[in-house]
Amino acid sequence: MVPSVDGRIVLRGWKVSQAALVREYERTAATLRGDAWIVGRVSMEPYAGRARIPVRAGGGHIPRTDFVARSDAPSYAIAIDPSGKLRWESASIDEEHVVTVLTKKVPDRYLAFLRTKGVSYLFGGKERIDLAAVLRKLRRRFGIRRLLLEGGGKINGSFLAAGLVDELSILVAPVADGSVGTPALFDAPGARPPSRGLRLLSVQRRPGDLVWLRYAVR
Ligand SMILES: NC(=O)c1ccc[n+]([C@@H]2O[C@H](COP(=O)([O-])OP(=O)(O)OC[C@H]3O[C@@H](n4cnc5c(N)ncnc54)[C@H](OP(=O)(O)O)[C@@H]3O)[C@@H](O)[C@H]2O)c1
Repeated sequence: MVPSVDGRIVLRGWKVSQAALVREYERTAATLRGDAWIVGRVSMEPYAGRARIPVRAGGGHIPRTDFVARSDAPSYAIAIDPSGKLRWESASIDEEHVVTVLTKKVPDRYLAFLRTKGVSYLFGGKERIDLAAVLRKLRRRFGIRRLLLEGGGKINGSFLAAGLVDELSILVAPVADGSVGTPALFDAPGARPPSRGLRLLSVQRRPGDLVWLRYAVR
C-alpha cells in the first residue's frame, strides 16, 4: 500500500509524480513474491472495465457453486464483489487470471455473464463474506498460499478485523494529505476498532523520498 504520512490512500490530487509512485509500488510488490493479489470492489473497478451485462432470457437457475475457469495461471487477480457489480471485459489482467468473490445473493444473470467471460468465481458466503473461508478456498482451488492484500481501506480493514493480516508492506509517500473522511489504510467495519500491535521488520529509503516500512502483525 502507498499511504500519505497521515494514512490516506486516494492518490488523486497528490503533488507527487504518480508514475514514480506506481513504479516504486510495482518494484517493491514484486519482491514480495505473492501468488496472487486481492482488492476490494471499488479498487478493482478501473481494472475490470465497463462491459454490458446481457439480459438473460430463460436458461434456468444457475446453482450457487464455485466456478473455476482456470487453475494453472501464473498469478491471480482477485476481487471481493459481494453483490456482483464489476463489469469484467476480460478474464485476465495482464497475464493474471481473474477470480471474483461473491455472495449467493447475486442474480443468475450475473453468474451467466461471468461464465461467458471465463471469469472464475467463488462464493464467500450467503449474504456476507467470510474471509477466512475465502482464503481456504483460494488455497484449495487455486493453490494460493501467499496473498498480497492491496487495498483499498475497506477490504484492508475487514482483513485486519478478521485477524488475517500477517505482515504489512507500506510505502509512505512524501505527502501530507489532510483530507477528512476519505479512504485510509485500514477502514474496519463496526464500532470497535480492531487495533493491532506491529513489530518493525525493516525500514528502507526508496527513490522519490518514499520510505518502505515492513512490519509483522503481533
Ligand atoms: N494508495 C494505495 O496504495 C491504494 C491501493 C489500493 C486502493 N487505493 C484507493 O482506495 C480507494 C478505495 O478504497 P475503499 O475503501 O473505498 O474500497 P475497497 O476496499 O477497494 O472496496 C470496498 C468494497 O469492496 C467490497 N468489500 C471489501 N471487503 C469486503 C468484505 N470483507 N465483505 C464484503 N464486501 C467487501 C464492498 O463492495 P460493495 O460496495 O459492492 O458491497 C466494499 O464496499 C480508491 O480510491 C483506490 O484508488 C489506494
